[in-house]
Amino acid sequence: MDFRRHIASNIRADGAAADELYALLAVPPNTEMGDFALPCFKLAKVMRKAPALIAEEIAASYPKDEIVTEVTAVNGYVNFKINRAYWAKLTLERILQEREKYGSSDEGAGKTVCIDYSSVNIAKPFHIGHLSTTVLGSALYKLHAFLGYKPVGINHLGDYGTQFGKLISAYLRWGDRETIEKGGLRALNALYVRFHEEAEKDESLNDEARGFFKKIESGDAESVALFNWFKELTLKDVGKIYDLLDVHFDSWAGESFYNDKMQPVIDELREKNLLVESEGARIVDLEAYGMPPCIILRSDGASLYATRDIAAAIYRKKTYDFYKCLYVVAYQQNLHFKQFFKVLELMGKEWAKDLVHVAYGMVSLEDGSMSTRKGKVVYLEDVIAKCVEKALAIITEKNPALADKESIARTVGVGAVIFGALYNNKIKDITFSYDKVLNFEGETSCYVQYTCARANSVLEKGGRAKSFAAESICPQEFEVVKKLAEFPDVLHDALEKYEPCFVARYAVDLAQVFNKFYFDCSILNAEGSQRDFRLALTECVLITLKNALGLLGIGVPDKM
Ligand code: ARG
Repeated sequence: MDFRRHIASNIRADGAAADELYALLAVPPNTEMGDFALPCFKLAKVMRKAPALIAEEIAASYPKDEIVTEVTAVNGYVNFKINRAYWAKLTLERILQEREKYGSSDEGAGKTVCIDYSSVNIAKPFHIGHLSTTVLGSALYKLHAFLGYKPVGINHLGDYGTQFGKLISAYLRWGDRETIEKGGLRALNALYVRFHEEAEKDESLNDEARGFFKKIESGDAESVALFNWFKELTLKDVGKIYDLLDVHFDSWAGESFYNDKMQPVIDELREKNLLVESEGARIVDLEAYGMPPCIILRSDGASLYATRDIAAAIYRKKTYDFYKCLYVVAYQQNLHFKQFFKVLELMGKEWAKDLVHVAYGMVSLEDGSMSTRKGKVVYLEDVIAKCVEKALAIITEKNPALADKESIARTVGVGAVIFGALYNNKIKDITFSYDKVLNFEGETSCYVQYTCARANSVLEKGGRAKSFAAESICPQEFEVVKKLAEFPDVLHDALEKYEPCFVARYAVDLAQVFNKFYFDCSILNAEGSQRDFRLALTECVLITLKNALGLLGIGVPDKM
């Protein structure tokens, strides 16, 4: 089934290992050229021959068989053509057998990967800026699990800092239990915003807030109880969104979890002569690496965000013995990650090389940015609700008689939000547009979902095929087969580059080639083995699209 592997192992090229050839083999953009192509430019160095000559020699010496039927050399490339009927049969057989497991593998067996994502801040709004980390992290989680790794999803809660003193001060002054209980995160944020407004007029509020923060730290029962209540309310509210987005965590160990785990880190830094005093603070000097110092302790003795991250990384290594530890965090924090990764390296942690900052770009709505302090935030909850509402309107217009419209609209609307955030390379800044993510003809999840509904309806009318041997294959069918067969490779690449967008784009590509096939070739009016083959092909597309969207956390309605 793995034709690339098959070809790579049969190529005769002195000095080039099968693995290297395998990596070089690519799918040419144009089927006319071949089904696989080997560019010989990189081989020229090892083999000390001109690429064109290498290509000719490889083409001449390749042992053709029932799988590879044609091998030609063109301008430094070797083009391979596969027996299409054979390819189709193997591909369909595999998909129909593996079904919801199609695309999975055990390449990650025995490897634990920690994924730090979403990492919300207590009592702060869960806004559109958290969308990417949440859905990227969740997709990476599912992808790792699908490829045999053991993922550990970590929500590194922002549950430590002076802001909780402010919140307590604000609550005791202007809050009441009922309003907060009802209003949840939004009511908490309103208190926070009010505190900042009032503190501008009255400086002493800041001292009061510091006092409350000290009380939390020293374990004062009332302050701690309030803080825990804020935490509970936050988690309840974000929990609803996680449920909608199908996002899960294995650990909620946040910043405060490391309160008692930092002293050993500070001791170790001191022992290793890494800690320097600077204006009363304790820092690790990183000038030699072209970075500002990493501050470990402030002059008042308080620890910092980086201190907690260093302690957290050490804790994670000890607890999970991770193969990799990913941090899905916006590129604004690039320096922070570079700094504390370096500190761990300087501490002699050889595993510091396994820490990966999976950085992504900003998401903004068409109407501009937001700030937590001034209270101008776009809540993720509202974005999702609006997408669901718009989805319902579209579906109702397209298909008024459809049953269960509300639940379908939810799947479509939530999918649009997720897909909108995942469709581009993660590092790109994106402007979120409702019309764009809900365009049924665009490169969107609803386009893919609609295609699934179409495939479903074909299968309902035509029934599932019993046999799927293809005697001859038309180009439209073959494009679908080829796309289907790519899926496992796409997943492998998506994981390797931490780019769930590969999966999203793949889903759109597969939907497009299927739709071309659907409009050009008749499925239900075909006869005999051709009809069977086309039905089987349709079923395989449905299975694969469902698997692809599922990895992104997006469901597929039967009808739309
Ligand atoms: N809560 C942080 C923020 O909102 C993100 C935490 C990311 N994870 C980490 N280990 N630093 O900026």
